[in-house]
Order: sequence, then C-alpha cells, then structure tokens
Amino acid sequence: MANQICNLSPQNLLIITLISLLSINKSLHETGAQETGMSLIESTCRKTEYPEECISALESDPSSFNANLTGLTRIAVQKSESKLVDTLNTVSSFVLNATDYMTWGFLLFCRDSYNASVPQIQEGLQAFDKLEFEKSYRSVEAVNKAVVECDKQGLKMLSQVNSVLFRLTKDTMAIMDLLF
Ligand SMILES: *[C@@H]1O[C@H](CO)[C@@H](O)[C@H](O)[C@H]1NC(C)=O
Ligand SMILES: *[C@@H]1O[C@H](CO)[C@@H](O)[C@H](O)[C@H]1NC(C)=O
Ligand SMILES: *[C@@H]1O[C@H](CO)[C@@H](O)[C@H](O)[C@H]1NC(C)=O
Repeated sequence: MANQICNLSPQNLLIITLISLLSINKSLHETGAQETGMSLIESTCRKTEYPEECISALESDPSSFNANLTGLTRIAVQKSESKLVDTLNTVSSFVLNATDYMTWGFLLFCRDSYNASVPQIQEGLQAFDKLEFEKSYRSVEAVNKAVVECDKQGLKMLSQVNSVLFRLTKDTMAIMDLLF
C-alpha cells in the first residue's frame, strides 16, 4: 500500500507547495500588522519572570484574547488591582482572628500598607487611560514594594498570597516595560 503523497505528480506537488507558501506568507503578514490572541498573550508573558502566572492571569479575562499589547497591559494592571484587593481581604480576616499580640501587630502593618496601596493603584489605572504610563507603572511598583515589606514580617500564613501578588505585580511591571 503506497502512501497517497508518493502518488502525486510533480505538477501537483508544485501547486501544493505554492499554496502552502502563499498561506504562510499571509499569516506572517497578519501577525505583523496587529498581533492579538493566544500568541500575543504567550509571547508577551514569555518576556516576564513568571510566565505561567502571567498567562493564567491574562487568560482569566476573556477580553485578553482580542487585545493588543496596550490592552493586555491594562488588563495586567487591572488583575494586579483585583489581586491586591483579594489579598487585603485575606489579611483583614487574619487580623480579626489573630490570637497573639505580635502576630496581630505584623498583620496590622500588612493590612495598612495594602489598604494604602488600593487607592494608589486605582489612580494608576486611571492614569493608564490618560496614557500616563509612568505614573501607572509607579502605582504597580508601589504594590510590589508593599508585598516585599509585608513579607519581611515573616508571617507564614501570608506567604502564599504574598507570593502570588508579588509575581503578578512583577510580571505587570515587565509587561509595562515593553510598552515604553
Ligand atoms: C490597541 O487597541 C485599542 C483598543 O483596545 C486601540 O484603541 C488602540 O489604537 C490599539 N493600539 C494599536 C497600536 O493598534
Ligand atoms: C476566622 O475565623 C472565622 C470564625 O472562626 C472563620 O470562619 C474564618 O475562616 C477565619 N479566617 C481565617 C483567615 O482564618
Ligand atoms: C483603608 O483606606 C481608606 C482610604 O482609602 C480608609 O478610609 C480606611 O479607613 C482604611 N481602612 C483601614 C482598615 O485602615
């Protein structure tokens, strides 16, 4: 039983080759003009420190699949903001449950610093829409610094949520760097 491909005449092979070359050329042009979708999410996230986290954060927003780089960057800032609010809520519930004075004090430090970062990154999101990318970048950087400061308190119960917020803000900063 001979393979079908082997039975093709040279003329037919030439036609098939030409058609393939034309369609490859076409898709290259489309990508160059305005890359969006899964390939843009992946190629963007590959340039960050934590690509897996970056991809899953962006993919969790369906509008990422139609966004260009500017749109993806805004989504990353938004994701950083919502993750900050989640983290603040987690820390606040630990504050209410704290059973020893030292832990309570460390938790208060983290809660206050995350709480102060919320209006800052919300302004950063507004700044983004006014194309003030530098201001927007600094608001994300401020959240990242707040995580580092909170983490220095050495609270084991926060290490997981802090690590998620640290990585997301770090990746968001890396994506913003691509815009400048
Ligand atoms: C990116 O997409 C936005 C709409 O989401 C559009 O306003 C903007 O012009 C696009 N930027 C580029 C460089 O095409
Ligand atoms: C705090 O305590 C409440 C009631 O005991 C409990 O439902 C909640 O899960 C606790 N929260 C944390 C973060 O441990
Ligand atoms: C959090 O910050 C807001 C201002 O954005 C302030 O009004 C509020 O009292 C703060 N909450 C805590 C628990 O510190």
